[in-house]
Order: sequence, then structure tokens, then C-alpha cells
Amino acid sequence: MNYRRCGDSGLLLPEISLGFWHNFGHVDDFQESRKIMRRAFDRGITHFDLANNYGPPAGSAEENVGRILAEDFACHRDELIITTKAGHDMWGGPYGEWGSRKHLLASLDQSLKRLRIPYVDVFYSHRPDPNTRLEETMSALATAVNSGKALYVGLSKYPLKKLKKAVKILKKMGIRCLVYQPPYSILNRWPEKEGILDYLKEEKMGCVVFSPLAQGMLTPKYIDGIPEDSRAARSDGFLQEEQVIAQQEKIRNLDDLAAAQGMSINHMAINFTLKHKAVTSSIIGARTVAQLDDSLDALEAPKITGSLFKAIDKIAPMTKQKAAEG
Ligand SMILES: NC(=O)c1ccc[n+]([C@@H]2O[C@H](COP(=O)([O-])OP(=O)(O)OC[C@H]3O[C@@H](n4cnc5c(N)ncnc54)[C@H](OP(=O)(O)O)[C@@H]3O)[C@@H](O)[C@H]2O)c1
Repeated sequence: MNYRRCGDSGLLLPEISLGFWHNFGHVDDFQESRKIMRRAFDRGITHFDLANNYGPPAGSAEENVGRILAEDFACHRDELIITTKAGHDMWGGPYGEWGSRKHLLASLDQSLKRLRIPYVDVFYSHRPDPNTRLEETMSALATAVNSGKALYVGLSKYPLKKLKKAVKILKKMGIRCLVYQPPYSILNRWPEKEGILDYLKEEKMGCVVFSPLAQGMLTPKYIDGIPEDSRAARSDGFLQEEQVIAQQEKIRNLDDLAAAQGMSINHMAINFTLKHKAVTSSIIGARTVAQLDDSLDALEAPKITGSLFKAIDKIAPMTKQKAAEG
């Protein structure tokens, strides 16, 4: 594993990190989840990404990871970066989502209980809230740090203008925003198109990108259809069959391009996200240990050269896109 500095902070993150959005809920096979997490650590992944609502059901990914941390990783806590987030729909009533101090700080306390740890390394505002003043949301992040419940803070999916404003407000509160988390893949170049990656580089902030495989679309699995055990075939609605069908021709062309370079489409996709100098780490998901191993092998595959980048750009140019919900 290679480790990259997270902006100009003291923190190094692995080039590939593991996320727990899917495959770690109570609906999943706990023993497989445990094997994935252990294998990830053995291969150098020191950064595990969570959120209050990951599961399903919401909260269960944190519960399962909390159990694995307690049973298998108790003596490794200081070798790990554990992150969580609040802001998406988590519990009923008016305080269960968005960006109020009430939601963020209550959610952080809940996350720490589920994870069975006294602090997280990074606490994120998971999405911008159009109806809460940024000062309030940022003050909750500052409180998380000042109370010792988070070492650092991060922002996810904020559009550029709001991101710049939030970073300034945090600075005035004496808190440096460590990291920003956008979606980024060959099929979703939103942060590149919006100038967010360039801003992060200038601001010397870290950038951890998510869904580099576009939820599995940038693997060979959807080339000839929709396999039964895939995310698109499951009924949770995060990746819809129509989305896959709309991208299928592009995926086939990208697969041909990767093959001509002697690599797999998924290795090309992961290495694409690591090419931009602003990117610290790319957060993958894995349903099995074999998928995890396959994704980690991208680090031994050829890097993305300038001419390959141009060929990818020809097949999948930047278009106006939105930050994905997550
Ligand atoms: N901040 C946010 O709002 C936000 C939003 C989304 C995600 N995230 C973070 O990013 C993490 C990763 O997201 P993601 O799961 O969408 O990432 P991804 O790496 O783009 O997709 C992972 C999925 O692709 C499939 N896959 C992986 N390796 C494969 C292989 N070798 N061959 C075939 N299929 C393979 C699996 O789905 P199948 O089940 O189809 O096999 C797997 O669950 C999340 O866990 C979360 O931590 C953050």
C-alpha cells in the first residue's frame, strides 16, 4: 500500500480506503464482512469510512463494525482512521437528518455508541443543508473536535461556493477542514468539472473520493446484462437497472480500451481516480474478499498515462452532473 498525505495535514491515508455503505449491514453475512475488514487491514488499508445511516437497516453497519473493532481490532485502534458522517435521513421526527447542531451532535453520540469507541478520527457533514445557516452546521463540527469526540472534520458533497464558505467559517472558529469527500469516477467527473479538485489542491485540503467503480458499473459484471447478485439487481434502489443500461455502451468501450492496455476496466477505473494530484485516497466498496483483493491489485496495474487519460476522456467526457446522494 502507498500512503498519501491528506492535504497539508499531518495525516497519511492509504491510496485505497474501504467504505461500509453496502455489505456491512444486518442484512449481510457478518462473517464475510468481518473477513473483508480483516483482509483490508492486512493489505494496508488503515482508513475505514462509515456514516450513521449505513446498513441496511440504518446504523447496522456501525454496529457490525463496532463489534469487529471490539473483537478483532482492540489492540489496533491507533493504527486506524475511522470516519463517520451525519446529515442524511437517520431517525424519525424533525431532528433525524440535515445540518442542525441538534442532529449532528446527537448523531455523533449515537455513532460512538454503535462503534464502541470514544472518538472518531474524522466527523463529516454528509451533505449541505439548504435550510440551516452554514455557521450552525460548522459550529457543530467545531464542537465535535473541541469535545474530543472527533480528531478532525470533513465535508461531503458541498458544491464549490458553499464549500469555500464553510471552510472559511471553520477557519474563523479555529478548525481546519481536513478533507472533502465527493463522488468521482470515469462516469461521474462532477468534482473535476466544477473546479472542486483544483480548489482543494490550492487550499491544500485532503480529498477522499467515493464510488470509483461507479457502484460496480466500471467492472466487467454489467457488460452482458445485469447479474442476479449485483447491486443493480437488488431492490434497494441505490443503483437502478436503467442507470446501468444507459451507460452500457460506454462501459463496453471502456472495457475494450482497458483490454488494449493489458488491464481490466476496474483497475483502469480506480487508477483514473488516483491520477488527479488533489486526490488523497479512493474509497472502494467490496461485497466479497475476492472483490476487495481484485480492487487492491489495481495498485500494481499500469498507471494512467496522459494518452490513456485522453482516450478515456473521449469515451466519457466531463458533462454537467450532480453530486450523488449517499
Ligand atoms: N459521502 C457520500 O455521500 C458517499 C456516498 C456513497 C459512497 N460513499 C463511500 O464510498 C464507499 C464506496 O462506495 P461504493 O460501494 O459505491 O464503491 P464502488 O467501489 O464504486 O462500488 C463497490 C461495488 O462494486 C462492486 N464491485 C467491487 N469490486 C468488484 C469487482 N472486482 N468485480 C465486480 N464487482 C465489483 C460490488 O457491488 P456488487 O454488490 O454489485 O457486487 C461493490 O459493492 C462507500 O462504502 C462509502 O463509504 C460515500
